[in-house]
Amino acid sequence: VIFGALPTQAEVATSAFEDELSNIDWDDLGFGIRKTDYMYLMKCGEDGVFSGGDLFPFGNIELSPSAGVLNYGQGLFEGLKAYRRADGRIVLFRPEENALRLTTGAERMCMAAPSVEQFVEAVKQTVLANKRWIPPFGKGSLYIRPLLLGSGAVLGLAPAPEVTFLIYVSPVGNYFKEGLAPIQLQVETKYHRATPGGTGNVKTIGNYAPVLKVQRSAKTEGFSDVLYLDAINKKYLEEVSSCNIFVVKDKTVSTPALHGTILSGVTRKSIIEVARSRGYEVHERLVSVDELMDADEVFCTGTAVVVSPVGSITYLDRRVTYGNGAPGEVSQELYSALTSIQMGLADDNMGWTIEV
Ligand code: COI
Repeated sequence: VIFGALPTQAEVATSAFEDELSNIDWDDLGFGIRKTDYMYLMKCGEDGVFSGGDLFPFGNIELSPSAGVLNYGQGLFEGLKAYRRADGRIVLFRPEENALRLTTGAERMCMAAPSVEQFVEAVKQTVLANKRWIPPFGKGSLYIRPLLLGSGAVLGLAPAPEVTFLIYVSPVGNYFKEGLAPIQLQVETKYHRATPGGTGNVKTIGNYAPVLKVQRSAKTEGFSDVLYLDAINKKYLEEVSSCNIFVVKDKTVSTPALHGTILSGVTRKSIIEVARSRGYEVHERLVSVDELMDADEVFCTGTAVVVSPVGSITYLDRRVTYGNGAPGEVSQELYSALTSIQMGLADDNMGWTIEV
C-alpha cells in the first residue's frame, strides 16, 4: 500500500458481504459522527466493580445535572479501530493497549476501570452489533470511542460515586481534510497543552477542549493543526492537538520522549516498533524545534490520523517545507507497513490484530 492507494478490483471483489453493508456513501467518509445502531453501557458503583454491561440502541444518555463528569470534568476517552479485511474478517488493532491506557488514566482520575478482558469483550460486542457500519475493505474503518465517565452525582469536589463505561462507534475515513496529502502545521508559541505534573499523558476529556481556541485560529490562517512546545523551556516538541509527532533526519527517526506531558499513543508505540523492525534507528528523546525545522521529513501518528505526513511547519516568522508537497520516503514506508498489518495485506508478525 502507498499513500492513497486503493485495493485492486480483485481485492474488492473478494471483500464480499456488500449486501450486509449500510447504505451510505463509503467514498466520502471523512471523520465525522454518524449515528450507528448500538452502543455499550456498563456501570460501577462505590464497590469499584463493573458488571451487567449490555448493548443498547444508540441514543442519548441520561445524566444527573450534578454528574462528576459535567461539573468537574471527571472523564476519559479512548480511540481504536476495527477493519473489514478483503476476506470479510473483522479485526481490531491492539485493543488491550487502549484498555491498559484507560486503566492508568482511571487511576489518575480517581475512577474505577473495567478489566482488560471486560474492555476487549465490550469492544467486540459493540463492533459486531454495528457490523453493517464497518466500511468495505479499503474505504476506511470503524472508529471505536470508549468513554469512562464520572456519572454519579456530586456537589463538593470529590470522585463521583458511580462510573459509567460507554462505547459508541462511527465509520470513518481520513481525519484531515487534506486526505492523505501532507498537512500544514503551525508551532504554537503562546499556549501550552500540558505542564509537568498535570495530566498531559492521560486521555482525559479535559485535555482536549483547551486546544480548540488555538486550533480554530490556526485553521482560520489556513493551517491544518497546531504543534505544541513544552511549557518550561518553550523549545522542545510535545504533540499536535490530536496526534504525536515524529521527525526524520538522515534516516534516523526521533519522537519526543514520554515524560508525563505527552499522550502515549498506540500508533506512536506501533510506529516505533515497526520502524525498528525495519532497521531504522529510533530515538525517544527531547526533540527541539530547531531540529524540527532542519528535518528531512516530519509526520504525525494517531489512531484517528494514522500516519499523516507533514508538508510544512511554520514557527514564528519562519516556514519550512518538506518533500515538495509529497510524503517523505520514510513516512510512506512506515505508513504502508502499519496499514498493511491493519488491513491484512501483510503478515501480522507482531501479533497486533485480533479477530472479532
Ligand atoms: C484518536 O486518534 O483516536 C484520538 O483520540 C484523537 C481524537 C482527538 C480524535
